[in-house]
Formats: sequence, C-alpha cells, structure tokens
Amino acid sequence: MIPSHAPPHTIHELLKATSSLFTNKNVKEEFEQRIKEYLQTDRYLTTSSGRRSLYIALKSLKIGKGDEVILPAFTTDIVPMVVRETGAMPIPADAQLEDYNIDPNSVLDRISDKTKAILTVHTIGCPSDLKALKDICDDHNIFLIEDAASAFGAKYNNKPVGTYGDFGIISFGIGKSISMGDGGGLIVLDDELFKRIKDTTLKEYKNSGKVFLKIFGSIMLSNPQLYGIVGCRTKDMIVSHQYDNYTEEIIDDQDISLLSYAIGIQEMKSEIFERRRKIALGYTEILKKFDDVYPPMEKKIAMRFIRDIL
Ligand SMILES: Cc1ncc(COP(=O)(O)O)c(C=O)c1O
Repeated sequence: MIPSHAPPHTIHELLKATSSLFTNKNVKEEFEQRIKEYLQTDRYLTTSSGRRSLYIALKSLKIGKGDEVILPAFTTDIVPMVVRETGAMPIPADAQLEDYNIDPNSVLDRISDKTKAILTVHTIGCPSDLKALKDICDDHNIFLIEDAASAFGAKYNNKPVGTYGDFGIISFGIGKSISMGDGGGLIVLDDELFKRIKDTTLKEYKNSGKVFLKIFGSIMLSNPQLYGIVGCRTKDMIVSHQYDNYTEEIIDDQDISLLSYAIGIQEMKSEIFERRRKIALGYTEILKKFDDVYPPMEKKIAMRFIRDIL
C-alpha cells in the first residue's frame, strides 16, 4: 500500500536523495530530461505547482472574463477555482461511472458560443475519453486542456496522458504519482507558445531544507502508529488551511528546490508507476465483487486512484 497524503518514500530514500545533491550538480536538467524522455516530447517545463501550470495554460490561451470552460463536475475544487481566477466561468459537465471522468455527451450539451476550452481531468489515474473529447474540440474549434495532475504515469493508446491536448498539467505535490514535495509540470503542444512561456517562468530555487522537513514530517505522520495519534489531526489541519495562500501559489514563479528535483530523479528511476498500477489492479479485483461498487475498469487503470477512493 502507498499511503494517502504522504510521499511514497522511506527516510532512507529521502536521505539518499539529499546526499545525491553533493555529487550531482545538474539535478534539474537530469530530472527534466527523464520526464521528456518518458513523455516523448521536448515541450515540457517545470512549474511551482499543478495549479500554477493550469493557470499558465488558461492565460496563455487568453481565456478570461466572458469565456466559459467546460470541466468535470466530479473533481477537486482547485480546478474550477483556478478557472475562476482567470475571470472565466467554469461550466460543470457530468461524470461517467465507467471511469469517473467527464462524459463527452454531457460536454456536447454544455457547449455555447462562449466556450473556449474543455478542461478534462484524468481522474485519480484513469485517462478520459481523449478521442471523443478531441473530436469535439476540433468540430467546435475550441482548446483541449488535459489535467493529468493526479494521473501522471497513465497512458491512453500507449501514449502518456497530458500529451494529447493543447496543454497538459502535472502535479508533483505530496501524494501525487511522482511525489517531490512540491512542483508541477506543463506540456505544451504549440512550439511558439512553448518558447514564449519557457522564457517567462521560474526564478531562483526554493529552499531544500523546507522541503526536507515537509517530506520528513509526512513520512513520520503517515506511520501507522503515529497516524492514529497525531497524523490524522495534522492532516485535517493541513487540509483546512490548504487554500490560505491560494492566490500566491498560482502566481508563484519560483523554481522548486534542488531536493525536489533529486527526489524526482529517484522516483523516475524506480518502478513507481508499475507498483501503483499493480496495487490498483489488486483493489479492483476485490472491489468489483461487491454490488453497487464500481471501480474504474481495468483497461483504464493507471496507478494512483485507489487510495483516493478508499
Ligand atoms: C486534478 C487536480 N488538478 C490540479 C491540482 C493542483 O495541483 P497542485 O496541488 O500541485 O497545485 C490537483 C491537486 O490535488 C489535482 O488533483
């Protein structure tokens, strides 16, 4: 089992990543190279968070006041909040039981002359119906944004999610499939747009010490013995304050810490996607035996969804 709201690391792995900083002076370059190889694209850049990536994508497409963005009704609240931050109106479409993702038929019902984009979220590791959504976008001349914040490592037609739309969003926050304590990623389809965005993002590195403490703390608190005593209360406290610095976070253009990059390299080298997928398959086998329980079906499974359902 990979614990919820904790990075999938041990203290030993955290220390190993920390010590690698003494010998590897190019952690950012190495991490990004590994991501690009995995995604099979050069048009990738790292951002301070998944919400920041989403905000950059919407602003780059000049989406704002008077525009509408169709998104799934079943998703994390941060997604419509970022859309509202641009001035545009989030328009919820129904989710489908098959994979918990946006239903293309419901999307069709929501399209108006104000619709600028479909923002599909690959829910907890399950790719959405990208073919149907892309066809709708092409027919109506609107943009497709893929929020793969909680599905990095999932594939659709053997190609990583996030690489189909005009923009793909990734998150590397604690509890995500690649969990680096901090950070996000952005995949850009258009070459010119990519060059423009790349030149305007990310200033100096964040403090590695703070990330060390954050990850160390979450490893300790997700320990089963400690979780019952203090972990669950701390988690409630963190969740209740998670939007306190929300606006600053989406405009934050500071680079993530070198330690986050070092942890990212370690995770990309590991079998983390495969491990998550195996765990998901195991849970699915158990859950599908119950009436009225509908785990996302096997062909769509990628990795991390199970922990969110339970
Ligand atoms: C679907 C989805 N989109 C966006 C985000 C935002 O990512 P971050 O927390 O890195 O800003 C999250 C985070 O939980 C998410 O689950």
